[in-house]
Amino acid sequence: MLALVTGGAGFIGSHIVDALLAKGYKVRILDALTEPVHPGGRIPDYLSKEAELIIGDVRDKAAVSKALEGVDVVFHEGAHQGYLPDYSTFFDVNSVGTSMLFEVIAEKKLNVKKIIIASSQAVYGEGQYFCPQHGELQPMPRPIERLAKGQWEHTCPICGETLKNLQATEKLVNPNTQYAISKYSQELIGHNLGRRHGIPVVCLRYSITLGKRQSFYNMYTGILRSFATLLTLGQSPIIFEDGMLMRDYIHIDDVVSANMCVLESPDADYQSFNVGSGISTTVLEFYKEISEYMNSSLKPVMNGEFRVGDVRHIVSSPAKLEALGWKPQKNLRNMIADYLEYLNKAENLEDYFASAMRDMKNKTAIMKSQI
Ligand SMILES: NC(=O)c1ccc[n+]([C@@H]2O[C@H](COP(=O)([O-])OP(=O)(O)OC[C@H]3O[C@@H](n4cnc5c(N)ncnc54)[C@H](O)[C@@H]3O)[C@@H](O)[C@H]2O)c1
Repeated sequence: MLALVTGGAGFIGSHIVDALLAKGYKVRILDALTEPVHPGGRIPDYLSKEAELIIGDVRDKAAVSKALEGVDVVFHEGAHQGYLPDYSTFFDVNSVGTSMLFEVIAEKKLNVKKIIIASSQAVYGEGQYFCPQHGELQPMPRPIERLAKGQWEHTCPICGETLKNLQATEKLVNPNTQYAISKYSQELIGHNLGRRHGIPVVCLRYSITLGKRQSFYNMYTGILRSFATLLTLGQSPIIFEDGMLMRDYIHIDDVVSANMCVLESPDADYQSFNVGSGISTTVLEFYKEISEYMNSSLKPVMNGEFRVGDVRHIVSSPAKLEALGWKPQKNLRNMIADYLEYLNKAENLEDYFASAMRDMKNKTAIMKSQI
């Protein structure tokens, strides 16, 4: 069996590559080795030499044709990510790249047996909430004027009551950023074109994934990278808002096992699944866990700064995928320990940190509330 992993030189893709090799698959990678994740377009040291690497773009028909030759299953991980306003690039890479796979498969009448597409928890937007008087709601992003007053929680647009966050289930999506809309477009393209051509497609909505090989330069999955780097350098991290933003985190090994689970389960076909832990962790709880682990007594800076566009709470329910037999095995401490082991082997930490902060200041709008 031959598996193609697009984005297979990246964090999640490279771990999927290793798992497939361990299962006896032949593996081919299609990866454009894009910046900032791969500085200078260098092949990362961790990449297995047993996998065939095609350096190429998922939008390039010739590269995709070459990559798909003789392939049985596809893991589509390659994507454009981030918060920057290069809006068209999200749709160009993510939507065009996904449709290119189907275009080549259809034109060449290839016998691909399954396509697993990396989607994201981001498709839920602000997530799902409950008002005791008015029931379930999917709020819009919080207005800047409210954030400027330090009013962090979502409130009911009808009665003004503070809303209770509910775990996000697969039923309702509300993508509201360029990244989220493009990731959801990948799901729509995959499910619809998959059905048309009789190719089972599964989309996996990963929660924030943590572990070894997570790029030091990828702004998108920042919390562990930034806390770990700053504490290693003896500097206090800034915690935005009141530190009570909630997320769920998932270990890279659990993301890989979710991919293997849906690969082997026909019951997963033509469906989308959350791949999350379902465990709500506030930013302050995360900080406590990592500072204890690192034996640091540094206090974080919390001075009312907030990031425009930050989602207040988003926690995915893993119940649907658990019904297929998958279950997350690793906890937050495992994620922190594995990442720190990786970080501690890295060189030039100051450079990583300086470049991350430059990016934050230049490209992400940070504002301060008047509280
Ligand atoms: N890491 C997370 O927490 C997370 C959460 C939700 C969803 N995801 C999704 O999981 C997938 C993998 O993410 P990751 O964290 O491993 O990111 P990553 O940046 O480490 O890896 C992505 C890989 O895709 C490659 N790539 C980018 N553009 C490409 C293009 N045009 N053609 C070919 N290759 C290209 C990059 O070179 C990189 O190696 C992505 O689809 C991402 O949207 C990740």
